[in-house]
Amino acid sequence: VAEPVDVADAADVRLADYAALTDAALRERVEHGEGLFIAEGELVIRQLLRSAYPVRSVLVTPRRYERLRDVLDGVGAPVYVAPPEVLEAVVGFPLHRGAVASACRTPLPDPTALLSTARTVAVLEGLNDHENIGAVFRNAAALGVDALLLSPTCADPLYRRSVRVSMGGVLHVPFTALAPWPAGLAQVTAAGFETVALTPAGDVAVGELGRRAGRVAVLLGAEGAGLSAGALAMADRRVRIPMRVGTDSLNVATAAAIAFHRLWERPGR
Ligand SMILES: C[S@@+](CC[C@H](N)C(=O)[O-])C[C@H]1O[C@@H](n2cnc3c(N)ncnc32)[C@H](O)[C@@H]1O
Repeated sequence: VAEPVDVADAADVRLADYAALTDAALRERVEHGEGLFIAEGELVIRQLLRSAYPVRSVLVTPRRYERLRDVLDGVGAPVYVAPPEVLEAVVGFPLHRGAVASACRTPLPDPTALLSTARTVAVLEGLNDHENIGAVFRNAAALGVDALLLSPTCADPLYRRSVRVSMGGVLHVPFTALAPWPAGLAQVTAAGFETVALTPAGDVAVGELGRRAGRVAVLLGAEGAGLSAGALAMADRRVRIPMRVGTDSLNVATAAAIAFHRLWERPGR
């Protein structure tokens, strides 16, 4: 059992992974440069420790250390314990959750490898909102989506806010980038998937998804733009979630949850 390490100085270099967590530009440089990401909060850290991502270190207040002790005592990485004011000085804001962990990014898998074992996948186009990405991953983890494929203009699913909003779902559902876009969708079709574009203008109602016996890839678009004409043209079907007249659309994660649930209820799960 590794002993926790007390840290009293916010400038301690061992805490460099956690510096200025709200400075998005700096974090982008540090996290991609060093190949790391941040998991925040007790629940998400528990999920991280159950995932395949290697942990670099954990930083907690004494109170959180006690609460997480059952899992922290077995962590094969340094566990730093610091008073709340030191944590705040390092991360740059009052971290009420009192617990952060740093973990290593791992190489993105080849799309064909991910697709080879999946039955249900989701493909995200241009989702640049970290909270929406996180919420889609949370739904995917809960509702049996085997993998997510992201177009090149999607935001980073391992950004701290996405990881938090996903409640750790992003740590368990495999994902990768799909490029070039949208031509890369041909790989999904070639792997035997029926590609279904989810769009409010779809000509088939979402209930149909529950009757699709084979492999299905659901395409989801971003707030505002929705799916591009190029992506829609590559899809085999266009499915809509019927809504009250006069409603423009649902939030993408909400639409995703409805579609994922239909697919989850298919026979043969
Ligand atoms: C906020 S919506 C985009 C709205 C955009 N005006 C459009 O027409 O697609 C974001 C994404 O959620 C999904 N979506 C939202 N409402 C939907 C609905 N009623 N039926 C099917 N998909 C929907 C689609 O994938 C859409 O690209």
